[in-house]
Amino acid sequence: MSVNKNAVDKCRISDSSLEKFVSYGDMPIANGFLSEGEFKSEYYFPLEVGFCEKSKMVQLITQPDPEIMFHDHYAFFSSLSTSMQKHFKTFADEVKSRFVKNTNQMVMELGCNDGIFLQHFKDYRHLGIEPSLNVAEVSRSKGLNVENRFFGQALAEEIVSKEGQVDLFSASNCMCHIPDFLSVLAGIDVLLSKKGVVVFEDPYMGAVVEKTSYDQFYDEHVFLFSLHSISYAFSLFGMEVFDVAPQVTHGGSMRYYICRKGEHEVSNAVSSLLKNEELQGLDKIDVYLEFAKNCETSKARLVEELSILAKAGKKVAGYGATSKSTTVLNYCKIGPDLISYISDTTPIKIGKFSPGMHIPIRSYEEFKSNYPDVAVLFAWNHQAEIFEKEKVFRDSNGKWLFFVPKVEIV
Ligand code: TYD
Repeated sequence: MSVNKNAVDKCRISDSSLEKFVSYGDMPIANGFLSEGEFKSEYYFPLEVGFCEKSKMVQLITQPDPEIMFHDHYAFFSSLSTSMQKHFKTFADEVKSRFVKNTNQMVMELGCNDGIFLQHFKDYRHLGIEPSLNVAEVSRSKGLNVENRFFGQALAEEIVSKEGQVDLFSASNCMCHIPDFLSVLAGIDVLLSKKGVVVFEDPYMGAVVEKTSYDQFYDEHVFLFSLHSISYAFSLFGMEVFDVAPQVTHGGSMRYYICRKGEHEVSNAVSSLLKNEELQGLDKIDVYLEFAKNCETSKARLVEELSILAKAGKKVAGYGATSKSTTVLNYCKIGPDLISYISDTTPIKIGKFSPGMHIPIRSYEEFKSNYPDVAVLFAWNHQAEIFEKEKVFRDSNGKWLFFVPKVEIV
């Protein structure tokens, strides 16, 4: 495995140094599902995470170039999950009732993917930004206006000159993907109207620490935010968080509502979450050093459990070829000898192999027609939806192997 040096190191939001607290070894691109012919040229980078004392930011130390991750065959389609469809409909309804009451207001979404959220603003003045062409085309086919570009200050200036300022700037599971976060913030500063609102959600560092869900670290997740780090970052541009709302999506996320300082009343939820984060220790390195130890324990337990199953001749399959599973499989060095295949519903992944460890990805129909003895729940963030769907698997004596929040077979 040779490590490609074409990795960037420009994701600093403060000039202070990052203190490395965990290293997961050389990692391939999490959504880089590949065919056998591509094994030899597979791209790797060192997956290491650090904490910045000044900005309170938790972030990857190096990250591959965005062009390697977001392109014309991006494998992630938001609308495949019915619970995510419901989530974004509720989110859109809330935003309409609180902030954008008339269709003349301008709504923008960064990383609109296949339009799962923006489709609810089709009748508004709107614009989606999506750098991955294949998913951008799906949005366009729903009648949405989408720019297939990377966002930053330069694009923001272009948008303002054409469309004027933006009343609602949203992003879901996207802000944490962008290494040049400072340019995004500068772009928002250019775009946002005086009373405008930025609302975005991303996986939450507090949940990652609480659940030892180390699989949230992979190439696309260059940052794992907390309210502390988000407050710091936006304060650099004269903005403040005025509300927060925890979400169950993606294994525990946080939604942040941000405005120009003083333009909206700050909710008590903000001070209460800041206090909770201090109690949890998210503003100090110690909790992250402890987290790193917990990762090692989790890894050892998972490998132990899978080895016992292999020795007992049990048939083990993975459920959901998630981006997150790439970190688990490569960090724990779990290959086809321990997990014979991974079932997934995404057409673009089926028939390919998992990044790095090269476990075959098979169709969901294959899983259903010949159940394994044990299914490893890689898509653990969709547990409720999956358990509802898989009653027959359970009734046929099928077992689930979990690794978050702890390794256990149920
Ligand atoms: P997701 O949970 O969004 O995780 P990540 O952000 O880590 O990629 O991805 C879900 C994956 O799981 C996706 O490839 C589709 C698959 N999946 C199934 O195969 N069956 C299901 O019932 C669900 C909900 C997801």
